[in-house]
Amino acid sequence: MTIGGLIFEPLMAMEKNQQRKRVWIIANRLPFTIEHNDSNELTIRRSSGGLVNALTSYYEQASIDVDKYWVGVADCTPQVWEKEIIPYTKDDKVKFHPIFVDEHDYENYYSGFCNATIWPLFHYFPTKVEYHEAYWEAYEKVNRNFAEQLIPSLQPGDLVWIHDYQLMLLPALLREQVADLSIGFFLHIPFPSYELFRMLPQLWKKSIAEGLLGADLIGFHTYEYVQHFIQSMKMVLGVENTFHKIHYQNREVYAELFPLGIDYAKFSEKAVSEEVTEKVNFLKNEFRDKKIIFSVDRLDYSKGFMQRLNGWENFLQEYPEWKEKVVFLIIIVPSRDTIDSYQEMKSAIEEKIGTINGRYGTITWQPIHYQYRHLSFDNLIALYRHADVALITPLRDGMNLVAKEFIASQVNGKGVLVLSELAGAAVELNESLLVNPFDTIAVSDAIHRALSLPLEERIQRNRIMQDRLLHYDVIQWINDFVDQLDLVTSSRNQRKANALNLLDLFVKRYQSAAHRIFLIDYDGTLAPITNYPKDAIPTEAVKNVLRKLASQPNTKVVVISGRPADTLETWLGDLPITLVAEHGSIIKDGKNKWLDTLNLSPLWKSQVMPIMQTFVSRCIGSFVEEKKNTIAWHYRNTLPGVGFDRSRELINNLNILLQNTPLQVIDGNKVVEVKPTGYDKGTMAVRLCQQFQADFVCCLGDDTTDEDMFIALNEDAITIKVKEVHTNAKYFLPKQSDVITFLESFIH
Ligand code: UDP
Ligand code: G6P
Repeated sequence: MTIGGLIFEPLMAMEKNQQRKRVWIIANRLPFTIEHNDSNELTIRRSSGGLVNALTSYYEQASIDVDKYWVGVADCTPQVWEKEIIPYTKDDKVKFHPIFVDEHDYENYYSGFCNATIWPLFHYFPTKVEYHEAYWEAYEKVNRNFAEQLIPSLQPGDLVWIHDYQLMLLPALLREQVADLSIGFFLHIPFPSYELFRMLPQLWKKSIAEGLLGADLIGFHTYEYVQHFIQSMKMVLGVENTFHKIHYQNREVYAELFPLGIDYAKFSEKAVSEEVTEKVNFLKNEFRDKKIIFSVDRLDYSKGFMQRLNGWENFLQEYPEWKEKVVFLIIIVPSRDTIDSYQEMKSAIEEKIGTINGRYGTITWQPIHYQYRHLSFDNLIALYRHADVALITPLRDGMNLVAKEFIASQVNGKGVLVLSELAGAAVELNESLLVNPFDTIAVSDAIHRALSLPLEERIQRNRIMQDRLLHYDVIQWINDFVDQLDLVTSSRNQRKANALNLLDLFVKRYQSAAHRIFLIDYDGTLAPITNYPKDAIPTEAVKNVLRKLASQPNTKVVVISGRPADTLETWLGDLPITLVAEHGSIIKDGKNKWLDTLNLSPLWKSQVMPIMQTFVSRCIGSFVEEKKNTIAWHYRNTLPGVGFDRSRELINNLNILLQNTPLQVIDGNKVVEVKPTGYDKGTMAVRLCQQFQADFVCCLGDDTTDEDMFIALNEDAITIKVKEVHTNAKYFLPKQSDVITFLESFIH
């Protein structure tokens, strides 16, 4: 149980972990790939892709003084791992932890759910998405394999940082099993708009949402992805948020923006090295008198090869003055080529390249030079440094590091970046020439413009971007994420410690008081919120705790609610407690009869009712509840966005109608209510405390109307909001189910 956001559970786990900090990087891939060459000999190659490059820079940093581990799927047997990999990696600054996965499961997980379901959906290719139960099952299984094989090695206090769409179920699996972990998650691809995310079957999207919310901190490359994520969590799980903080179960999960940087120094230093200069001279010689345009991407439809080739073809057609003066070097890095659609795309690209070269080439000039291979780091940097233009035009890209690496390698500032506005990197590289990759004419015009840009302007644009990339490099990115994660976890731990002290203090005050009063709201406090008000029947446990509390000496228990009197009577009328109905206007004190303290004419209702009825017709799922002194329009069962928008309109209409009348509008929890002014829960609470001469006051509530009590009660009162949101209460309990445990603490 928690109070003030504080969890009441033993602190042993935290105390146990006083040793050196341990950081676990968990990704699908290890930073090296095990392959067999033509003679079936084992070779080890550095893995490709932005994720591996970013994280490799982290583990190579000697200055980060923690024990580092990297967990990923081993593409070999445990025997090969033992014999070949352990000796190969023994000098590394990181310890590798292999995960062994059944080959068939891995195929359905990797080529299936990861790259034929999630990848196309999250990159806005809904028609490419494959929906297969077997893929989903394998995805669940491999995520579980990670959890099972990892958990024995984890200790409370460890920081685990899970990466990317392959492992979205893992945060919750680890949280369930290991106490006191700091769990971070980073998504390296876009998080799509809810309109895309909702296309996943209910079970899949719910499990993914719950899996991700197992983390304490979830990072994204752009602000847009953060917004999409929060919206999807609201729609799928009905969670609420305060800015970037999502209230989930009894925790807070932060969704934040951390644009991935590059190892700037590594690129800028390498670009002037002797070995790279040698390769640059080779390129100069090879493409003498010609300008060089290049692109380097993994084989992937999200990279927009066909659209880029169309742009290039249009350029050759529209700007014949560049004939024989420019070449386009296309490097495609092998990737996922076991997936059929990738193979088909490769053939289509190669065919198109052949057509363009055939149509526009001459005996001495080939407009496109194409290679399908992995580049060595030196070759890549030489290309970055020597090229005149980088043509990076993905149709969608979480970030795109090639664009950033190209800018960092511009030691003399002469290269021009033409970049897709649909790449995450475009947000930080807006001094490049930004293009819509689908717009063939815009791409071709941008190529011409890039080739014609004056040197001074090129240098100026590059310097601004270089400065930005230098200041937020990959190390800064990592430190930023890890610091933020530490902060979230340490404030949670701090709150745990404070909580134990607080409850102790409250009980002592209660024990030494002469007259004790508990003022407790009903819905959302004593009973969970239900879709229909009639379903929120009190449990026996709730009734027992109220009964026992009320039978303590000199203790008065008041349930103070917006409910009609007859409902409270049916549900709680047999208990020795005071009941207050309709927000403080009707009361039954102990054994006395119900008393309506207002006795107003109900004539006003005929004006308000038709407006509310109109909103019922305009907002499917909403309904009106008429009580003795109030009328309420409920919108809990409407579509989240729609109900809220309509409620704003209704409040607006009612406020105009009720100007200068003795009626007021309450903006409650998924309810808009009209009631006469002049009384509220606060006034009633104060009156009861005075009558009872209470010197110990404890008040709990979750809704807008409870704020009136939190404000009106004396400074000494213990006021508790059941939910962590902005409130006038002094403390909070994060979830409704904590209320009973909290009240039980006072029963002796
Ligand atoms: N890269 C690589 N091998 C190559 C060519 C490039 O590892 O032969 C690297 C490149 O330096 C960059 C990464 O692959 O860091 C590609 O990252 P990006 O974000 O551009 O795209 P992703 O592959 O992650 O979709
Ligand atoms: C992107 C993804 C990474 C992935 C990389 C290479 O950068 O975000 O998670 O590792 O591509 O793809 P691969 O399928 O070869 O791991």
